[in-house]
Amino acid sequence: MKNILVTGGAGFIGCNFVRYMLDKYPDYRIVVYDKLTYAGRLENLQDVAQAHPHRYHFVQGDICDAAQVEETIREHDIDTIVNFAAESHVDRSILEPDAFIRTDVYGTYVLLEAARKFGNLRYHQISTDEVYGHIEGDHSSVETDNLAPRSPYAASKASGDHLVNAYHITYGLPVTITRGANNVGPYQYPEKVVPLFVTNALNDMPLPVYGDGQQMRDYQYVVDHCEGIDLVLHQGQLGEAYNIGTGQEITNLEMVEILLDELEKPRSLIQHVEDRQGHDRRYSLNVDKIRALGWEPAHTCEEAIRKTVRWYVENRWWWEPIRQGEFQEYYQRVYGQRKILS
Ligand code: NAD
Ligand code: DAU
Repeated sequence: MKNILVTGGAGFIGCNFVRYMLDKYPDYRIVVYDKLTYAGRLENLQDVAQAHPHRYHFVQGDICDAAQVEETIREHDIDTIVNFAAESHVDRSILEPDAFIRTDVYGTYVLLEAARKFGNLRYHQISTDEVYGHIEGDHSSVETDNLAPRSPYAASKASGDHLVNAYHITYGLPVTITRGANNVGPYQYPEKVVPLFVTNALNDMPLPVYGDGQQMRDYQYVVDHCEGIDLVLHQGQLGEAYNIGTGQEITNLEMVEILLDELEKPRSLIQHVEDRQGHDRRYSLNVDKIRALGWEPAHTCEEAIRKTVRWYVENRWWWEPIRQGEFQEYYQRVYGQRKILS
C-alpha cells in the first residue's frame, strides 16, 4: 500500500483521516478525490497541503464519473481506494433523496468497477451503524446482523455495503467495510447535531432537540474512528465488516447537557421541536471484533464531545463563514416551520 485514493477526503472524517495517515506513514502518497459539495471544503486540508506538498494531491471530481475516476487511478498509480465520498446527512436525505442514491449507491458501484478494472485494487468502504436500523431492547449490532436501514440515507449506505460484498464474492475484489457510530471532532459541517448545537449556543440561539431527546447515540472522537479504519485497512480480514464505536450509548439530552456545561451556557437554550420523520431511537454497536484486532478508543463519548466543543470555540474562522452561506437556506428549510414542543 503506497498510493491511496481517498474519495470524499475534503469532508469531515476524510480530512481527519488524510491528516492522520500522512503523519503516520512517511512513505504513503494520498490523492484526495472530491466533488466539493457543500460539505467538502479545501480549507479542511489547507494545513495538509502545506505540510506534505509532495505526498498529498487534490483532484476535484465526482465518484459517479467513471472516466475521471479511471484517469485519476492511472495517472497516480493508485493501489488502494478508501471511499468516504457520500451524501451523509439524514435530514437532507429526507428532503431530497436523489443525490444519496446517486453518490452513495451508483458512485460506490463506479469505484468498485474501477477497482476491478485496474487488477483488483484494495478497496475499503466507509459505512455506518445506521445500516442496522433502529435497535430494540438491549441488543447491540454485530457485523453478521441483517441490514435493516430506515432512512433514505441509511438505505443508500446499506446498498453500498451490499455492492461491496457482492464484488468480493463475485469477482474476488479485496474489500473491507467499517461501520462507524456518530463521529464528532474538528471540521464537521454544522448541520450535524454537535457542531450545530455548539455554534447555535455560541450565538445564543435555541438548540432544537428532536422529540423527547431520549434517542440513544454513541458519539465517538473522529481520530479514534480513523485509527480503527487504518487498522482494518492493514490487518482486517478481506471480505469482512468491522463495527467502530466506543461501545457506550448516551441520550441526546445527555449529550446536550455535556455540551452546555463545557460552554458554561444555560439549559434554557434547549428547545424541544417536532421529531425527525422515521427517527431511529437507538443505535448500539458491539465492537468486540475490532477490539480483537487490538483497537481501543482513546476517548469516551463525554471526552469526545467536550474536546469537540473546545475546537469550535477556538476555530470560529472555520465555521462562521459556513453559517453565512448555503447553510442559512438549509436551516430555514429544516427548522423554519418546525413545530416547537416546549
Ligand atoms: P461529509 O458530508 O462531511 O463529507 C462527504 C464528502 O464527500 C465531502 O467532502 C463531499 O464533497 C464529498 N462528496 C459527496 N458527493 C461526492 C461525489 N459524488 N463525488 C466525490 N465526492 C463527493 O461526510 P462525513 O461525515 O465525513 O462522512 C464520511 C463518510 O463516513 C460517509 O460515507 C458517511 O456515510 C460515513 N460515516 C459518517 C459518520 C458521521 O458521524 N459523520 C459516521 C459513520 C459513517
Ligand atoms: O450513526 C452514524 C451516523 O451519524 C452517520 O452515518 C451519519 O452520516 C451522521 O450524520 C450521523 O447521523 P445521525 O442522524 O445520528 O446524526 P445527526 O447529527 O444528524 O443527529 C444525531 C442525533 O441528534 C439524532 O438522534 C437526531 C438528533 N438531532 C439532530 C439534529 C441535526 C436533534 O435532536 N436535533 C437536530 O437539530
